[in-house]
Order: sequence, then structure tokens, then C-alpha cells
Amino acid sequence: MADVVNFTVDGRQLQAAPGTLLINAAKQAGIEIPAFCYYDGLSLQAACRMCLVEVEKTPKLQVACTLPVAEGMVVHTDSAQVRQARKGTLEFLLTNHPLDCPVCDKGGECELQDMVFRYGAGESRFRETKIHVDEKQWSPIVFYDAPRCILCYRCVRICGEGLGVNALGIGNRGAASEIVPNRGDHPECDECGACIDICPVGALTSGTYRYKTRPWEMEHVATACTHCSNGCKTTLGVRNGQIIRANNRDRSGLNGEFLCVKGRYAFDFNEHPDRLTTPLARNANGELRPVSWGQALALVAKRFSELRAKNGRFAVIGSNHTSNEENYLLQKFTRQVLGSSNLDHHRTGDVAGLIDALQGRVEALAATADLYRAKAVLVIHSDLAQEQPLLAFQLRANWRHHQAHVYAVNPGPVREDNYATTARAEVGKEFEALQSLREKLAAEPELVILFGAAIKGQAVRALVEFGDSLGIRVKYVCLVDYSNSRGASDMGVLPDLLPGYRSARDAGLAPGLNYDQILNATDLDAVWVVGANPLARQRLAATNAFVVAQDLFLTETARRADVVLPAASAYEKNGTVTNVCGDVQKLSRGPKTMGAKSDFEIIALLAKEMREDLGARSPEAIFQEIRKSVRGYDVPFAVIETGGAAHTVPVNGRVEFESQPELIRPAGNTLFTSGTLGRYSKMLNSVLEAPGALYSDPGKEPIVRESEGSVLVETVTKPK
Ligand code: SF4
Ligand code: SF4
Ligand code: SF4
Ligand code: FES
Repeated sequence: MADVVNFTVDGRQLQAAPGTLLINAAKQAGIEIPAFCYYDGLSLQAACRMCLVEVEKTPKLQVACTLPVAEGMVVHTDSAQVRQARKGTLEFLLTNHPLDCPVCDKGGECELQDMVFRYGAGESRFRETKIHVDEKQWSPIVFYDAPRCILCYRCVRICGEGLGVNALGIGNRGAASEIVPNRGDHPECDECGACIDICPVGALTSGTYRYKTRPWEMEHVATACTHCSNGCKTTLGVRNGQIIRANNRDRSGLNGEFLCVKGRYAFDFNEHPDRLTTPLARNANGELRPVSWGQALALVAKRFSELRAKNGRFAVIGSNHTSNEENYLLQKFTRQVLGSSNLDHHRTGDVAGLIDALQGRVEALAATADLYRAKAVLVIHSDLAQEQPLLAFQLRANWRHHQAHVYAVNPGPVREDNYATTARAEVGKEFEALQSLREKLAAEPELVILFGAAIKGQAVRALVEFGDSLGIRVKYVCLVDYSNSRGASDMGVLPDLLPGYRSARDAGLAPGLNYDQILNATDLDAVWVVGANPLARQRLAATNAFVVAQDLFLTETARRADVVLPAASAYEKNGTVTNVCGDVQKLSRGPKTMGAKSDFEIIALLAKEMREDLGARSPEAIFQEIRKSVRGYDVPFAVIETGGAAHTVPVNGRVEFESQPELIRPAGNTLFTSGTLGRYSKMLNSVLEAPGALYSDPGKEPIVRESEGSVLVETVTKPK
């Protein structure tokens, strides 16, 4: 077969690979053929007839979304006949469609509205009464208005093919056809909202956004999701300093259009009434009371300076959510200003162990894109669809589009079992399961291995040895939780490793106390907790320590603090974060919470107050310092700056560190939980599928969840 096919579209000589669909071949040449049911990456439907084109020497108009280009084909996409056909298609689609664009939630960004404007089918020859069906609320998130539906089946396909959930199907016949959910009156599903965003019209709308604003009234801010480690790029719709919606409809970034329920809807924690907006300090009666920023910073700087002068013992717990620049600055402050190495964060995966085991092989760390490209992928001890939603989506797309071979080793059933070669194995028995897969794995041309927190310490080394023994090219991903767990590790928020996994000893610094040792030490004079809540699960043994907490909420840790500093969320700051696969992306400031400051600003102000110069003029300046000084982070600046993702490989030969597998604890988050942030997301807790959801059944009375701290005592509107 020839390598290329030659054909003509609208008088232009074009070439494309054999098998390319005409709609895509034209698009590559900048010629748009309108389409409703065709959607890149989903199966072909040919349901709407909007893409009809004229092909010379064929008697009837042809459907461009299913027609592969052929040698010598001559196509007209904008002839009078084609335009008339499109107008007719639109007139037909509008038979029952209410012509109420001014009040429809999709107005201004509706594909049908755009087409009607273009082809002028605003007037109909149908005089019959339109069939009316009442709008239905399927869940707190998903609303369906059948008369607006043009039956393109994009929603059905994204849910079934894309996510593997299959919550939507078609009910009734003919003009009464409509989309129906799998549980009759509601979908039992991931509540991801992909069906809503993919809907070309206003048939599916979201409970978080509908009727709040118009697209042109918002500022659209491209940033990264703050919930899990997968780092989906998201565009926040911000109006009057408030996030109104989040999506990635331009399909840019490492996730294309994918966002899970947390990324698309759980941004409401940002404006929870319990957000801290003023610093608090403990008064003479031991009560936390509001103080000014000036007072709070002066108080902390004074105590830190006094304790430093007395050679006091400091300890710092950093965050899995703060930016790379903030993590970098925090470790610099801790080591240079406080003179301490007692620094750690909640480790959710053995990243240092993997980098050590790879012994300098830079090509052995997989990027997010590898999940979609690799010929074979092995997942060990992770319920990927629950814990790593984007990676699960990419893997499934790789299987659908490229027939990738997927292997899953898990103690119990996971969604990947539906298409993977599965081996069951309890934690600790995974190597027996791997041996049973050895022959198949060794026959693959290449493999990406994803492993969860159960593989740590010596087991990571054993896994890399197993990979080496297969005799094929193997790449690895150490699965971590939370939005910048990887960045905290890469930036040296660790007691024995500096940024880029350089040994602290090499820099003349003795290793300090680790996370558990910090919490269990009785002789600490000051403990500074930045964006973490260790006291949710553990106790602080240093009962007399001066405790400073930076957070969004009055968490268990903040309640114990002597000074509480209100911090900005990741949606409210500039900087960068590194996702689970080591891909760095930019954070851009969207909304603002009056009274809160970014952790970067707080750390920089504290340094200034203590008359120290950390060179922390801006996150941008620190990012340049990181690019210069942190191994693997010399990433192309233009890629980051323009909203792309750049892969980092902070591989450093052997890593000199003390392997402490007991410190590696998974966050245990699912699709519907997200640590402290999830606790404060009313939307996330309102869906039926959430653990302890506010309703047990949409038809029953709301169940009020037991309060965690001061949140979630409220109920939310019940679905009808
Ligand atoms: S919200 Fe997501 S999982 Fe639920 S029906 Fe829509 S696409 Fe399917
Ligand atoms: S609800 Fe939207 S996406 Fe689904 S079939 Fe109808 S128009 Fe298409
Ligand atoms: S997969 Fe993770 S990063 Fe992506 S939207 Fe969901 S929570 Fe956010
Ligand atoms: S886009 Fe071709 S038939 Fe719908």
C-alpha cells in the first residue's frame, strides 16, 4: 500500500496517510467540516449527518466522519448542495429542540447554536407542537434536559468507552428517544462530568455551574488541579474572585479533556466559609485569637530568632500540596535560617527508593504520555481508577486505541481487570504473581510498571531487578498521592536529601529527624507545619513546643498551633508542581481569598522579618534557581510557560539515604475523597457514590454526616 493518499478538498491538493478519515484529513489542512456526533478518540457513530460533503463521482452526499480518503478523491465541503443539506440537518435537529438560546445554560458556547448561526436554519417548517419532557436531575452534579438532546451519543460513548463506566444508554424509540442512566432515575457512576462537558448542546448541564454566569463573563485561568498526583491541567472559570467552573475543553495539556469529579467539581473548598482569612495567635488565656499579619509574622520571627540564638531544636513538616518553589524555599529556610535538618513530609510512595534502584538510568522514569504510548503496562497494587484517575483513563485509551497489553497485580478486583491480564496477590506476595506473568511480560517489546505504596524499600529494588531480568526496555512510575508529593520529594523536603536527591551529608549536613521522629520527639522547641495536617492521625509529643501552622482551614494541627497563618490554595498562587510521573506544570493564580497569603509569600516574609536573604523575590525567580540547581529540572522554560508539561528526571546515580519504608503511607484517597480539601468540598461529599454521602438514596431523606472538625454538618439540596 502507498504511504500516502493524494486527494483534493475544495480545490486544494492534499495528502494523508491511508485510512485517514476525510474529516480529519481536511482538519489537518485547516478545512473544517462541521460535526456533532464525531468526536476524536471515540468510536464512529455517523448519527447526526452534519458532516455531509460532496464527493465527485458518487451519486449522494457522503458522511465525512466515516469516509477514509482515497487516491484521486475530489471533495467539496462548502458547495450549495452541501450547505443546503446542513441547513436541512439543522432544521431536523431543531424539530423538538426548544429555541431558547438566551436562557439556555449552553448559550454562547453551544455547537448547535454556532451551526444555526452559520447555516441559517433559525426558522422551521414544522408546525407541530414540540414534544416536551421535563428536565431531570440525575445527581447533585448531572442534569438532563431531553428536548435539547440531539442524540449524538457522545455522552454515552465517553462514559462507556472512555471511562469504562457505562452509566448511560438510550431509552425509547424514534422521536421519543432519550438518554437514560443505568439506575433508572440516576447514574451510579464516577460523577466525572465528562458527559456534561462533551455534550455539544445544553442537554446535559452541571449542578455546580448551571445558570450562574455566561462564558464571556469569566476570566479563564489555565492551571493544574490540586487534588491528586496526576496533575491534570484545568481551566478555571473565575468571576469576581470566585471559581465558577473547571474544565479542560481545549484538550491542551497532558490530560486532554479528562478531569475526574475532583478536578471538575471539588474546587468549592476554596470558598468554604471555614477558610482562614486572618492570622490567629494564642493569647495569655491560651485561646487562639485574630491578630494582624504584621503581629503574627513578628511573633513567629521573634520566637524563631530567640530559639535559634539559644540553639533551640526546630522541626519542620512540609506539604504534598504546596508548589515546587514553596517546597524549595521551605527546605532552604529550614537548613539555612533555622540551621536544622529536621525536615520531612508525609511520604506516600518510595520515590527516593526508585531513583536509587535505577542507579542513574535516566530513560527508565516514565512520563505521563508513556501511559498512552507504551505497548504494555503493568500495574501493581493500585486501584488505578480510584486512586490515579487520569493514569487509568490514559491506560484505557491506550488499550482502546493501540491495543496495548495491560497487566494488573492486585489483592482484589479493580476496574482494569475488565481488560487486563490479572493476577491476584496479597501485599507481600506480589513477586509470586509476577513470576506467573514472567513469560508474557518478557515477550512484550517494552513495559511500563506502575507500583503503589505497598512496594517500598527493598521491594522497590527487587522490582527493578525483576524488570531488568525480563530483558526488555522497562520504565517505572512510583505512584504517589496528592498534587505535589513528587515535588516535595524532588525539592528535598526530606531529612537526609537535598533538592535533586543529593545527599545532605555531602553538603556537610547530618541527617535530621524524620516525620515520625519529629512527632514523637519530646524535646523540640519549635515545630513549623506548612500545608499539612499530621495531627489528624498522630500526636505531637513535644507538648511544650512553639507550634506554627500554615493552612487553609483550622485543622487538627492548626488547633494545636500557637500561631496560625492563613494560606492560599494552589488555585490562588503562581508556581509549578510536579506530577506523579515527574511532569512539571505551571500553576497560575485564579481566585483570591482576602486575608490569605501564599506559602511562598509567608516564608519570604518570615525570612525578611528575621533579616535573612533567601533570594526569594518571586516564585518565578526561585523556579529559575531550581532549573539551574536541581538535577533533572533544567526543563524547557517555554514549555512550562505556555501551559505545557515538561518531564523531569532527577536521577542521580545511587542515592545516599536511609531507606525508611515504614514512613511510606498511602493517603488512601478514592475518587471521592481528597484529604483535608475533600472534607471541605460540599459538592464532593454530596454525591451518592461518596463514602458517607449525604444521601444514601436520592429518594430518601438526607443523612447528616458526623462532623469532622467543623465541617459537613450541613445538608445539601436533595436531587428530585
Ligand atoms: S458523570 Fe462521568 S461517569 Fe457519570 S454518567 Fe457522566 S460520563 Fe459517565
Ligand atoms: S445528552 Fe448531549 S451528548 Fe448526550 S446524546 Fe444528547 S446531545 Fe449528545
Ligand atoms: S485525576 Fe487527579 S489531577 Fe486529574 S482531575 Fe482528578 S484529582 Fe485532579
Ligand atoms: S459527524 Fe458525521 S454523522 Fe455526525
